[in-house]
Amino acid sequence: MSYPRIRISDAAKHVGETVSIAGWLYNLRKSGKICFPLVRDGSGTMQCVAVKSAIPEELFETLKGLTQESALIVTGKIRAEERAAGGYEMDVEAADVVQKVPEEDPYPITPKEHGVDFLMDHRHLWIRSKRQHAILRIRHEVIKGIRDYFDSHGFTLVDTPIFTPAACEGTTTLFEVDYFEDEKVYLTQSGQLYNEATVMAFGKVYCFGPTFRAEKSKTRRHLTEFWMVEPEMAYATLDDVKQVAEEMICFVVARVLENRQEELKTLERDITKLEAIKAPFNRMSYDDAVKKLQSLGSEIQWGGDFGNTDETLLTADMDRPVLVDRYPAEIKAFYFEHDPDRPELALGVDLIAPEGYGEVIGGGQRVSDLETLKKRLDDHGLPHEAFGWYLDLRKFGGVPHAGFGMGVERFTAWMCGTEHIRETIAFPRMLYRTRP
Ligand code: 4AD
Ligand code: MG
Repeated sequence: MSYPRIRISDAAKHVGETVSIAGWLYNLRKSGKICFPLVRDGSGTMQCVAVKSAIPEELFETLKGLTQESALIVTGKIRAEERAAGGYEMDVEAADVVQKVPEEDPYPITPKEHGVDFLMDHRHLWIRSKRQHAILRIRHEVIKGIRDYFDSHGFTLVDTPIFTPAACEGTTTLFEVDYFEDEKVYLTQSGQLYNEATVMAFGKVYCFGPTFRAEKSKTRRHLTEFWMVEPEMAYATLDDVKQVAEEMICFVVARVLENRQEELKTLERDITKLEAIKAPFNRMSYDDAVKKLQSLGSEIQWGGDFGNTDETLLTADMDRPVLVDRYPAEIKAFYFEHDPDRPELALGVDLIAPEGYGEVIGGGQRVSDLETLKKRLDDHGLPHEAFGWYLDLRKFGGVPHAGFGMGVERFTAWMCGTEHIRETIAFPRMLYRTRP
């Protein structure tokens, strides 16, 4: 006889019913007359209770002998149980073992402590662990929140290409692809340049996809492959970028708090830190940020870029992010509009998260004048040929426009309170990590 198959997350709707759960053995506690297989199915974990006297002897022995991560379908009656994780238990009546993990070759990740390298080598299995599972669920919530924000604010999603002949964020972090015959082609660093084209067709757009940086820096904030959401708005300025960035972040944080309490608890995230993330964020010019950092003992000089320690120092007394704007044009990409009152400054902004999470958003206002843009390409040693179409955008209805990019992994790390960004993507790619 077969019973309805449910997901553990729906257990509340099936109290008193006999149902089946298809999953994997997460843990097993046992004594002579009773055993407690803890089963996970991806949506949650269910404590199952198998009593020797209540089920066939053979079934009891099978369950008792199960190895960690063996695949099984358990059937039984759901009962509310306050003391159980998740609030429900299943009284086992039947079980099918779909695949038993061999005793002589057991699941490599045990409840004992493992080193990070070992865990990263077993990432394909590590993602089943509670913590990793919680982080990836929060990542999903973040992505959904971002999409919902832009979709409900008049932005059209337009995907941008991954192979691209033009550098966007400087030539030092470009991945060259050796395949195309006529032209040098790279993996995209950012969809921004293409957004600048699509935005003139749709007014407000965003792209959301993988981006690549040949980052030689081996820090806890850098991946070589990461996901970025990039909104772009026509007839918009630096101020619009700040406002949308702030609003979007508040929206997504609220979503995470609303829907991912369980996961935040698993991660032991101090949620008062997330609850504090409310508008208005702090706002500060680059000039003032440098002064503040110097007064706090940083060695930074005007003209320098902030390092991780500077970003951490800058926000040490803040409970919410800071929007730092008007950086020296010298240290910013070619496409920034310069401040008309102080041409040495780029109309760019970085959003720096508190608690040491650093820059999660970079953006600003783009050059809208054709001649200025041509000069800028020259100044940065970028070939006009690769940017022909990009220059066109300034010839045919060029207008002030602005946008930003937010890295999903950095944002997720901040939400989760994880120390290293590598845990916020299923299969991280870093300088020394391309497997699994
Ligand atoms: O500041 P970035 O380089 O800006 C751009 O790419 C712009 N074209 C975006 C735009 O205006 N449309 O990158 C934006 C964000 C950073 O703030 C950070 O969150 C993330 O992308 N990021 C990285 N995340 C992980 N690993 C890396 N190596 C990253 N580099 C940037
Ligand atoms: Mg940046």
